[in-house]
Parts: sequence; structure tokens; C-alpha cells
Amino acid sequence: MAVAQKLQLIQKMQIKGGCRLEGVTSVSGGKNTAVAIIPAVLLCDEPCVIENLPDIDDVRVLAEMMRHLGASVALEGNTMHIDPRGVSGHSVPAKLAQRMRASYYLIGALLGRLGRAEVPYPGGCMLGPRPIDQHIKGMEALGATVVCHSDGVFAEVDELRGNDIFFDLVTVGGTINVMLSAVRAVGNTTIYNAAKEPHIVDLANFLNSMGARVKGAGTDIIRIRGVQKLRGCTYAVIPDQIETGTLMIAAAATHGDVTIRGCIPTHMDALTAKLLELGANITDSDDSIRVRSNGAHRAVNIKTQVYPGFPTDLQQPMSALLTTARGTSIITENIFEQRFRHLMEMERMGASARIVDRVAIIDGVSGLFGSSVYVTDLRAGAALVVAGLMAEGVTEIANTQYIDRGYENLESKLRSLGADIRRVEVEDYSPMIEIIRE
Ligand code: EPZ
Repeated sequence: MAVAQKLQLIQKMQIKGGCRLEGVTSVSGGKNTAVAIIPAVLLCDEPCVIENLPDIDDVRVLAEMMRHLGASVALEGNTMHIDPRGVSGHSVPAKLAQRMRASYYLIGALLGRLGRAEVPYPGGCMLGPRPIDQHIKGMEALGATVVCHSDGVFAEVDELRGNDIFFDLVTVGGTINVMLSAVRAVGNTTIYNAAKEPHIVDLANFLNSMGARVKGAGTDIIRIRGVQKLRGCTYAVIPDQIETGTLMIAAAATHGDVTIRGCIPTHMDALTAKLLELGANITDSDDSIRVRSNGAHRAVNIKTQVYPGFPTDLQQPMSALLTTARGTSIITENIFEQRFRHLMEMERMGASARIVDRVAIIDGVSGLFGSSVYVTDLRAGAALVVAGLMAEGVTEIANTQYIDRGYENLESKLRSLGADIRRVEVEDYSPMIEIIRE
């Protein structure tokens, strides 16, 4: 028996680094808000129109799941027309659920609509253990029976009843899942220790546009008065906070001058403060942010926190910028257990980093050089793109499908700012090992 890797054509991203990003670009609708709002349509009995959706794989996969359940879904660019009236299915196929993290929002939404949900465990980025015990705690508090079996969750309830829920830790997904069930429960629900991210507020605004009664979103106490009927509506999701931050970091990392239009500057305050601290120049208006830098960046320390702290989703792109800051930067990842795998890839580009548990110590070097690197998760992909833009020479990035899950047309946005970036098909060994039986 021989073991071989098959040579095949695989798609890579190719970046010729060293260009300053300059000009104006705009940000798309938010991935993490879109994947919470789309399942919420299951809670109403009339068609909805969701606008400003990002044109990304996670939205397309979620549309497939909604169709599988019986909804009619028409996705035209950044607008989705969903008619949930045909929904009668309560189970989601594994081949779809495992392609993203947010498939588990269908548990809360299906419980709210049908009182029954059968959803395989979600996929999504490998960032260490990502349990869903708090989601289950919340649904059980609303009266559901939840059974976790080998490959998924089965939940059912005769009638959801409001309750007080105190989360043991702040969880974005848990807060969203409980909100989705509680809006159709009988009675009042209060969620204590709730997540406060912008997309929690956006979901609450969407639910209230359908006639729900959600108060306090954006604070750590969310109060929901259950209603029996929700009506259809048209709603535009908020801009993507993490895409905005990724573009801000790329601008500073390339010593550029970039204006990002269509964003919400107040959502970026933690990142803006850090970029100012390291030496970038930032000005903003109601819906745009301008980032300029001369490249003389000081090392800074980052501690990821729940909103409004420094977002865990931006520590990875930020670590790329810090690889050439003057001095030693320390990143403490307080949200996930394993979110530094991109740093090992960046070491192939000349970065100098050490990881001790949840702490990354980055010693600034004079510059990065192009190399072949591999994406391990969505924001690692963004980090490697930033590193490729910074590096002298050509960087080839494999496994770019992760990037396509969460960024709409990232290359064309960067190209419009002067980046030399494209997709290429190259002959390479497939990442899968092939067993050849002699
Ligand atoms: C959401 O993940 C986002 N994903 C993540 O973005 C983001 O990093 C994260 O929130 C934090 O902001 C989506 O919105 C689809 P959590 P989620 O529940 O909901 C632990 C990206 O790149 N926890 O707030 O999974 C958990 O293990 C992605 O866009 C429990 O212990 O995050 C983690 O350590 C990556 N029990 C911490 O809490 C639970 O029941 C925060 O998780 C739930 C979570």
C-alpha cells in the first residue's frame, strides 16, 4: 500500500505585496447579523424582504437550509425574499448544517415556529471547543426538552413559556438562540448577562419590525414579551463590523490612506483606539472612517473582550499588522481557546511570534516576505491577506474558501485600493492524502 498526494489544480489567492492601499471603498452588510436575521423569518407567517445582505457563502448555505425546511427563498444579489408560509420541516440536513456555525440558530427559530427542531451540530471555524451548553440551558428554561445525541440536537416543546435566564458567561450565539425562541413564548423572558454585540441589537430591531416586543438589546439585560403572531417586513441589515475593521487594519498595515464608506464608526471604537495608540491617524464621519498611516507603528498590547471591548474576530488581522511594529506586542485571546494558528503560517513569512496558552507574544521584525501559506479559519484568512499585502514579494494563500464564507468580493475591494491581488489556479498537491492499494 502506498500513500500519495494527488497533484491537482487548486484555487489560491496570489498577492504581490508592498503596495500602499489608497482610495475609497465601501463595506458590505454584516455576516454575523445576516445569519441571525435570516432564521428569524421562520418566526413569522408572512413574506419578508432582507436587504443589504453580504454576497457570501454563509448566506447562500443558509438560504438552502431555509428552502429545505419548506420556505421559498429568492436571493438576488444582496436582497433575499423569503416566504416562510410553506415551512413544515423541522430537521436540517447535516451536509448543510456542518458548513457553518450559525446553523444552530435554526434550533431556536424552529422551536419558536413549530415547537420542534432537529439540527446537526454546526460547523464553522475551529477555534477550540465551542460548546452550546448555554444555548441548551436557555431553551430548557423556556420549557423545551433538549436531547444532544451523537451528531446533533433534538429539541421539542408543547408550549414555550417565558422565564428568567442568567447566562453563566456572555455568549453571542446563546443570546441570539434564546431571543429567537423567547419572542414566540407565552409570557415574559429576561436574559441576564446577555451579549451586547451590534448584531444582537440588529436582530432585536428586526424582530421588533415584525411585531415582537424586545427591549434592552445592547445592554446585558434583554427583556422579551412573547407574542403569538409576527408579521412580514422589509429590513436592511447593518454593515459588517469585522469587515470594516479588517479594511481599517489593511489600510494601516500598508501605510496607506483609505476611506471606508457605509460603516458605523461607533461600532469600531475599540479598534480605532488601538490603531491610534500604535500611531495611525483616524478620522470619521456619520458613516465613514478614514485611516492613514506613515508606517511607523508602535507595538501595542491587545486583550480580546466581548463588545464593546476589542473584538476577538479582529485580533487575527491585527496580529499581521503587529508583526512589523516597533517592539514586542502581546495579544491575549480571552474568548476562544485556540485562535492563533495563523501565526505559524506568518512565521513562514518572517514573522516572529511565540504562543503561551491564550497569549501570543509578537516581536516586531523589519518586514515580511512572500511565501506559500494555508488558511485554517475565516479570520486567519483575513490575517494572511493583510500579511500578504504587507510582504515584499508574492504570497500564495491556499484554502481560500474560508475567506469566501465571510467576506464579499474582498479581492475586488482591495484591488480598487491599489492592491495586486488575484485568484489563480495552480497545480498543487491536494491537502487530502490518497491511499493507493497495490
Ligand atoms: C459568534 O460566535 C461569532 N459567530 C464569532 O464570529 C465571534 O467570534 C463570536 O460570536 C464572539 O464574538 C457568529 O456570529 C456566527 P460565543 P459564537 O457563543 O456565538 C463559549 C467569525 O469569524 N461558549 O459568544 O460561537 C465559547 O466556546 C466568527 O465571524 C460556551 O462555553 O461565540 C467561546 O469560548 C468566529 N457555551 C465563548 O463562549 C456556550 O453555550 C464565546 O462564544 C456558548 C459559548
